[in-house]
Order: sequence, then C-alpha cells, then structure tokens
Amino acid sequence: MRSSEIRELLKLIDRPGMISFAGGIPDPALFNVAAFSAAYGRILGDAAAGARALQYSATEGHPPLRRWIAERMAAQGVSCEPDNILITSGSQQALDLIGKLFLDPGDGVLAAAPTYLGALQSFSAYEPRFLARAEATDDVKLIYLVPDFDNPTGETMDAAARQRALEIADRHDAWIVEDGAYAALRYEGEDVAPVAAFDQRRAGSIDEIRTLYCGTFSKTLSPALRIGWICGPRAVISRLTLIQQVGDLHTSTINQMAMHEVAVSSYDDQVARARDVYRSRRDTMLAALARHAPEGLSWTRPKGGLFIWLTLPAAMDAAALLQRAIARDVAFVPGAAFFFDGSGSDRLRLSFSLSGEAAIDEGIERLCMLVREEIDVPIPAAAIGA
Ligand SMILES: Cc1ncc(COP(=O)(O)O)c(C=O)c1O
Repeated sequence: MRSSEIRELLKLIDRPGMISFAGGIPDPALFNVAAFSAAYGRILGDAAAGARALQYSATEGHPPLRRWIAERMAAQGVSCEPDNILITSGSQQALDLIGKLFLDPGDGVLAAAPTYLGALQSFSAYEPRFLARAEATDDVKLIYLVPDFDNPTGETMDAAARQRALEIADRHDAWIVEDGAYAALRYEGEDVAPVAAFDQRRAGSIDEIRTLYCGTFSKTLSPALRIGWICGPRAVISRLTLIQQVGDLHTSTINQMAMHEVAVSSYDDQVARARDVYRSRRDTMLAALARHAPEGLSWTRPKGGLFIWLTLPAAMDAAALLQRAIARDVAFVPGAAFFFDGSGSDRLRLSFSLSGEAAIDEGIERLCMLVREEIDVPIPAAAIGA
C-alpha cells in the first residue's frame, strides 16, 4: 500500500464514531485561546505595536522572542545569545533550511529507521542517501536525531547515547540536527540535557558546536502560528538566515509577537497542563494494551511525547490492518512510512494525544480484537499443501 492510499484511508477518520490514534497533533482543548486573544488584542490595541506587528520584519526573528528562547536554551545547558537563534516557520522549515544549506545529491544522512517522516521528506528534496548506520568509510553530512520521545517510536536517548552520537559526528565530520519537537513533554523521569548541551560542554562555546538544535512551540502552545527555531553557531545561523530570506523573508511578525507574549505569561503553566493530560492518556493507553493485547503484540513505553509504537505479531501487515480497522472505526498510522529502507510493514504508530480516556480504552480494545481475529484465522488447507 502506498502512502497516497493510506492518506485516502485516513481522510475517513473525521467521520462520527471514529476513534483516531492517527494524528500526531496536540489536543486543541489544551490551547490557551484566551491568552492568545488577549495577546493579539494588546498588540493591535496599541497603535505603535500594531503598526510593527503588521509590518515586514527582520528575517532573524522578533528580538524579544529570540531572547526568550536563548534564555530557555541556556536553562537546558545550551548557553547562547539571541544571535544564535533563528526563528523559523515551524521546525519543519528549520529542517528544510538545514537540508538546503548542507545537502548535495548523494550526501549521507544518518538517521534512525524508523524516523520522523517529515524530516525524511524535507531532506529528500536534496537527494541525499539515507543511512541507518555509518561505516567508517561512509561520507556522512548530517545526523538527524529526535532524542526525546521520538516520533514515531516514543523512545528517548540516554546521556551515553547522546555522547555516542557526538563521537560518530566527530568521526565523520558531520553536523547533528537535533529535533527537540517533543522535549518539553516529559511525563516521568529526569530530563536529559540536549545533545547541543553535551556538545557545548566539550567545545566550550556555542559557536564551536556541530549540533543544530531545532525547537518548536507547536506541541506546547500552538502549531497554527508556525513558530519554531534553530539554535546553533552564529556562522551557521547567519547562512541559514540568508536562505530563509530568499524563501519567505521572515516568519509572521504578529504571530511572533503574540507567541512571545503568551510564552512569557503562560508557557510553564501550559506545559504543566499538557503534561498532566497527556501523561494520563498515555497511562490509559498502556493499561488498555496490557489488558486487551493478544500474545505476540509488543509496544514501547514512552516517558513523554505523544506516541506508542506497536510491533504486530509475525508478518502481519499494518497497512492491510488499517483498512479493516477503519471499517471498525479505529485508525492509526501504518509504520512503513517512517522507514527509508522499505521495512516496517509490521509496525504501527498510535498517538494518545487526541482521545479521551474512555475512547482510548475502547479504541485499543477494537484494535486488539482485530489483531486477535487475524491471528486466529485458520490457515487454508490449500496454503499448506494438504
Ligand atoms: C519530530 C518532529 N519534528 C518536527 C515537526 C514539525 O513541527 P512544526 O513544523 O510544527 O514545528 C514534527 C511535527 O509533527 C515532528 O513530529
């Protein structure tokens, strides 16, 4: 099944009664609409601020927002200045700008298989070779990592794995693209410092590191305003700025101003709320899987983020399962889309971000029932030559 067919199937997920674990998107009930309304009201209610908000602005980004982000990065161990931050239209644009700057056709991009589909698509435009592991002789230009609560697996790299990634980058003289899209959404355990922080500890200065950290407000405050950032050495940030300039000139001025106001007034509260809600949905999904799953089904136990990654019993095809699942009003994303090496047909991604707890339990029960039915189908006598 090709991804376009899956997309067609997933168009059906809006129909009433459907329990969808497909979309990896934040729950809109968590958006602080009042805070955004007040921020836009304040900005546009002030003649001078309103005029600035509606005007073109510097590609690098709204200075107070860059400062706020630089302070937050510093609190995570990445000591930097506003000049080390470029505001982008979501972290998706950050990935595209980095691909445009670094990748020539045939360059190696080392990434996990599976990994975030949007990164594969962004980088693919520049025709690299994707590598799941690098031999000493491989030319590797970029190493793409989602170290915290990966999309799609939900897994997290520990400190030792982050150090190892830096050693691999050194060996290949490669840049690390650290995608921190879910880093704020931790539900248990201690934060692990970003790879960029480990890098800075040994390099001494932000301007000497080989890691480009991509952040976003999409999973915490709102994806619609399209505000992300890249944090890295000034020399790279200034080149990326030039590339962004020819692309879209700058990220929306008014949205950056509003995002800054909301971040200042309510970022920590919003993150705390989102963590509570998603933690409880994760726990519900894990408990439902433990209760309903047939033998042979296995899954990850994420410490944060939005996803659980399922491995089906031997040789079961997730795309075929999706077709039957949609007929029973439950949806997920088949795993093969996240692999660049053609594998993963027996994997699938479940998002627990959008459904309430009763729906999660019901949806997992339906899904497990379908898997059980498939396991129990007797093998036709003809197929075994009897
Ligand atoms: C791992 C990862 N990186 C980046 C993005 C892009 O997010 P945005 O462009 O909204 O910041 C997503 C969105 O789902 C994601 O899952």
